[in-house]
Amino acid sequence: MIACAVALFALTLLGPLVTSLVDDWSRRDVELRATLVFNSVSGPLSAMLENGQTDHINELFERVATDSRIVAVAVCRDGKEPAHATKLMPSSISCEKIARSDTESFSSVIVNGRRMLIGAYPIVSRTDPSREIEGHFIIVHDLSFAEHRGQEARNYLTLMLGGIILASGALAIGLVLYLIRNWLRTFKQAVTSATSPGVRNAAASYGPLDKEVRQVLRQLEMSQSAIDRDQANWSKETLRDIMLAELPGVEVLVVANREPYIHNHGPGGIELQTPASGLVSAVEPVMRACGGTWIAHGSGTADRETVDANDRIGVPPRSPEYTLRRIWISEEEQDGYYYGLANEGLWPLCHIAFTRPVFRESDWRTYRAVNERFADAVAAEAKTSSPIVLIQDYHFALLPQMVRERIPDATIITFWHIPWPNAETFGIFPWKEEIIHGLLGSSIIGFHTQFHCNNFLETVDRFVESRIDREQESVTLKGHETFIRPYPISIDWPPAALANQKSIQDCRDAVRKRLDLPPETKIAVGIERFDYTKGVLDRIRAVDTLLETHPEWRGRFVLVQAAAPTRSKLQTYKGLQDEAMALAEEINAKYADVSPQPIRLIIRHHEPSEVFELFRAADVCIVSSLHDGMNLVAKEFIAARDDERGVLMLSHFAGASRELAEALIINPYDAHATGEVLHSALVMPETEQHERMRLMRAYVSTRNVYRWAGQMLLDASRLRKKQRILEIAALDTDRAG
Ligand code: F6P
Repeated sequence: MIACAVALFALTLLGPLVTSLVDDWSRRDVELRATLVFNSVSGPLSAMLENGQTDHINELFERVATDSRIVAVAVCRDGKEPAHATKLMPSSISCEKIARSDTESFSSVIVNGRRMLIGAYPIVSRTDPSREIEGHFIIVHDLSFAEHRGQEARNYLTLMLGGIILASGALAIGLVLYLIRNWLRTFKQAVTSATSPGVRNAAASYGPLDKEVRQVLRQLEMSQSAIDRDQANWSKETLRDIMLAELPGVEVLVVANREPYIHNHGPGGIELQTPASGLVSAVEPVMRACGGTWIAHGSGTADRETVDANDRIGVPPRSPEYTLRRIWISEEEQDGYYYGLANEGLWPLCHIAFTRPVFRESDWRTYRAVNERFADAVAAEAKTSSPIVLIQDYHFALLPQMVRERIPDATIITFWHIPWPNAETFGIFPWKEEIIHGLLGSSIIGFHTQFHCNNFLETVDRFVESRIDREQESVTLKGHETFIRPYPISIDWPPAALANQKSIQDCRDAVRKRLDLPPETKIAVGIERFDYTKGVLDRIRAVDTLLETHPEWRGRFVLVQAAAPTRSKLQTYKGLQDEAMALAEEINAKYADVSPQPIRLIIRHHEPSEVFELFRAADVCIVSSLHDGMNLVAKEFIAARDDERGVLMLSHFAGASRELAEALIINPYDAHATGEVLHSALVMPETEQHERMRLMRAYVSTRNVYRWAGQMLLDASRLRKKQRILEIAALDTDRAG
């Protein structure tokens, strides 16, 4: 466009100039030729005129007039009419009109629409130059060729300018194409190969291509959710493949308070224990799939004896697949960090179970100090500048920001395994701003449910000055963006503990024999840590109401309640155990004449194989949590029942109830209603059990723990690619600047 305008402008200016130049030049050329002709004829002509040789003059003039540009020649003497004029002398040219002087002179006239140049030369006597002039030699030239020349010159000029425009246009298009292709190549590289640098989630503009970049990023997001959707068979292998394809060579570090393998001194020497922890049962298979380092509190009595000089041990101990790095915490520190702030403060604060949280300034200080120690350990264990750090749970709310300060390029994913309460409830926490700031050091914060994500965003909105993007579900604080996402946790499928299980019938026989129960006794199981959030007391009360309302179950039904002692140092937990034992005793006493007695309370740690045997032996599994982030017991029960039988009763207040719609959903606070549901469970026809269990198994088998981890890792990979694009865009802007 611009080139065309310039060309038009140039043509308008240069056209007339070129015409006048060509005209001048042509005219001078003709004048010169006329002078040459005169010089060559002036001598003989003067002699002929003096001698009156008319014929010779005519002959000479006709010869001269044969030149194609010469129209005519003649002589002007005294008369009006030219003498000796050649044939083509225009009649309109008379001697009077021709300017004649003592020197040569030129004038131009239009004859019949053609421009002509008339040259007039004085003829002097050759023999006596002092004599009067004999007359004037007149030569008439056709000047119309000058116009043709001018037109030709203008044509050449137009052609030349057109050529320049075309050439510069082609050059400009080539340059633009080159720049776009170059940019796209860089962009594509960023999208496909940006796996190494870490994430700084600065909200940024991508410069002039802002909109396009954002579109591509959105497509990238969509393509990755397509991976998720299409990935129906999530397994250890799928997770490994995703690591290889999306995050090749990326280091993975897990931080969790609880270690996956505990070494204790036992009667037979050092014994290996796997803790009763939903967190451990979820994260452990992921670590086996991905490798890396798990940093945790070394809590076993023989832990120090089993690590190397760097406090590391390969695990699982029999065939190591990843590294466990143990951190030592003194008893005093445990009291403040683990028992105090985490379990007397945050745990009851986040679980609505009507146990009042306790907040102590000294606990807070210790909590902070222990978080610092883990942050140092993460920095020491990290071998690269941009690892993926998976921080687990409420023990480490300050850790994300501390790690961010030490490893700015790390991709930090914090998973909060417990519920997040509403803003009003969280508002009583004395150090709420610090906790939120600490968590917002993460790249992503994960919760089990969308409801908990919403609660967290509300809390941030209420207490911290930040920018919340509701559409993206992200919070930007001091230029750092953190995404809030739901990742429903799950279990390994099929779980390792199922591998060596006997048949369902053998498990039923074995359990009934061990507990001394008649073969026809219906069994409901409850299995968990002995925690007040699990609703153990409410479950026992529901059994009481069942037996009250449906006496036909007396002597035909038993609740086997396996409860692993946990946090027993805390009075709330100890008190719960005492209370549960007393309640079980009270109810058993109420039905003293009934055999077997309805409540079997087994307070000890159960290894996964024992837990699965109980699940397989049961008719009903009761999960009656008063509040629970997810609850993996429910999912493990489903996994244990490969016979597709058994009924799951599930609390409405456990995150799992959002996913397992085919369970019998209960309100554990309502003992009577729970008792009624228990009755329905016990009489449920096998076909209905089968139908419900089949659907739940289909769901959990695909929504397993590999999917949970896979989603987080895919999101981590997407963030890292986004960050890479940001870095490249920033570099380009710098270069352009
Ligand atoms: O429910 C959250 C959770 O972290 C579980 O994943 C885990 O089982 C438990 O709390 C922690 O238990 P402990 O204090 O024994 O490690």
